[in-house]
Amino acid sequence: MSDSTTQSASVDFAGKVAIVTGAAQGIGAAVVATLAERGAKVAALDVQEKALRDTTSALTARGFQVRPFVVDISDAAAIEAVVGDIEAGLGEVEVLVNVAGILRLASATELTSDDWLDTFAVNTHGVFFLSRTVGRLMKERRRGAIVTVGSNAAAIPRTKMAAYAASKAASTHFTKCLGLELAEYGVRCNIVSPGSTDTAMQRQFWTDDQALEAVLNGSLDSYRTGIPLKRIATPADIAEAVAFLASDKARHITMHNLCIDGGATLGV
Ligand SMILES: NC(=O)c1ccc[n+]([C@@H]2O[C@H](COP(=O)([O-])OP(=O)(O)OC[C@H]3O[C@@H](n4cnc5c(N)ncnc54)[C@H](O)[C@@H]3O)[C@@H](O)[C@H]2O)c1
Repeated sequence: MSDSTTQSASVDFAGKVAIVTGAAQGIGAAVVATLAERGAKVAALDVQEKALRDTTSALTARGFQVRPFVVDISDAAAIEAVVGDIEAGLGEVEVLVNVAGILRLASATELTSDDWLDTFAVNTHGVFFLSRTVGRLMKERRRGAIVTVGSNAAAIPRTKMAAYAASKAASTHFTKCLGLELAEYGVRCNIVSPGSTDTAMQRQFWTDDQALEAVLNGSLDSYRTGIPLKRIATPADIAEAVAFLASDKARHITMHNLCIDGGATLGV
């Protein structure tokens, strides 16, 4: 990377207030770090209090502006309240990144009602509650960018992932519809759809020595292609794409779904 590129990346978000959910670990923590390193004041939201505080204090110790907010994104009233607190404490929100998500693995006929409802509560309703609240403010102010982290499983059927995949398809399409309505107000809404990414959520699949190889090589038993680029994404790979879509460099991009899966879903 040239010096000038590094310099312009470092100020992409100077002084901007950004909300990031799922901020305690994994992809969310990487997004928080990337936006903060590029000048954003980041409100970091998660349900896991200790992990969230550990993540945010490591960044504040490095001089970045990151504040933790412990909240369950599936609670609509709590979301209204926390967005008010964030605006009062940090300023007007210009970037929202919906990262928080959960995965319940079971075949479609074995999923419990709670598995289904809990999955939609976080992956779909949580995205709706936050995007609605923040989207209203962005619409009034005629500026802002929303990025929702979906999944490549939203576009391709996966065994044992019916609830997850359906919840991600819903939040992906919601984000596109929101983008259509907010476009005339200059507010952009995009999706980043990761494939297998090295986080706690992914590592639950790595139950034996062969598991990682199976992800890379694919498995006919589960109708999965492998990963043509022969690597698992890092959280930073995903955060980089999120930062681009949230930045003014993507000023003419909205309603786009950027898949980052090493080719695993063959570009569908
Ligand atoms: N890791 C992968 O392979 C992969 C692939 C595709 C998509 N994704 C998506 O990327 C996003 C991040 O995944 P990850 O791998 O970093 O997962 P992760 O499990 O490591 O982290 C998810 C975070 O979301 C938080 N969270 C869960 N429910 C919440 C709630 N109700 N309110 C607030 N926070 C809540 C968790 O506490 C956790 O910190 C998720 O939306 C996931 O579906 C991940």
